[in-house]
Amino acid sequence: MRKPIIAGNWKMYKTMDEAVAFVEALAGKLKESDKTETVICPPAPYLAALVEKSKGLPIRIAAQTMHEETEGAFTGEISPAMLKSIGVELVVLGHSERRQYYNETDDSVNRKVKSAFEHQLTPIVCVGETLEQRENNATSAIVSEQVKKAFAGVSETDAASAIVAYEPVWAIGTGRTATAEDANKVCGQIREVLAELYSDSVAQAIRIQYGGSVKPGNIEELLSMSDIDGALVGGASLDPESFAALAEAGA
Ligand code: G3H
Repeated sequence: MRKPIIAGNWKMYKTMDEAVAFVEALAGKLKESDKTETVICPPAPYLAALVEKSKGLPIRIAAQTMHEETEGAFTGEISPAMLKSIGVELVVLGHSERRQYYNETDDSVNRKVKSAFEHQLTPIVCVGETLEQRENNATSAIVSEQVKKAFAGVSETDAASAIVAYEPVWAIGTGRTATAEDANKVCGQIREVLAELYSDSVAQAIRIQYGGSVKPGNIEELLSMSDIDGALVGGASLDPESFAALAEAGA
């Protein structure tokens, strides 16, 4: 039985005060439950403070991206070792906005995934097709390729602890959600690819989130699907009330 994981990706939103107030508000609303995992992905400047703030709370902190090298002359970048040193546990990798605006490729995502595991960080590996690719019936081929490349060279033991986020690019921040059935179909295909790469039991262990205009009104239907194990949420994760509702839906 896979534990649902609800992650809120704040992207480039909130001030420090707002970030701290959010965690305080969320803590008051979350019921202690071991049935679901709640993750916040704040902007990098707040990571250390929110790791401290969430100690003792059922909230884990993830970075939104990272560099692949442990250290070096890479002005402005954040290394996996730095994330680890402040207590960050997970890292979102290959988000479509990183692929679109910062030239991340399947190859660089793969290097980052391997680096995350080397530093005992759990990667949330994002994959998903564009609208044009979907309209050309290329969803399955594109997503399979992204998964195969992201996991190239990753051991079976590491892979089993990974999280994959299926985010159709056309559904991100648009209010257009894939139907639960469509999302589940692609998540099922991702699981098949993982089974081919590893084994059935590894594929069954890996949690696959759906992302793209998830909100309190559609989370329950998405989570009721056989291959959807949680959500990577953007807009609806910015308000503690709606994010708590999403987290509670998995509990
Ligand atoms: O990382 C989150 C996704 O990009 C989804 O964003 O919920 O605003 O559509 P959204």
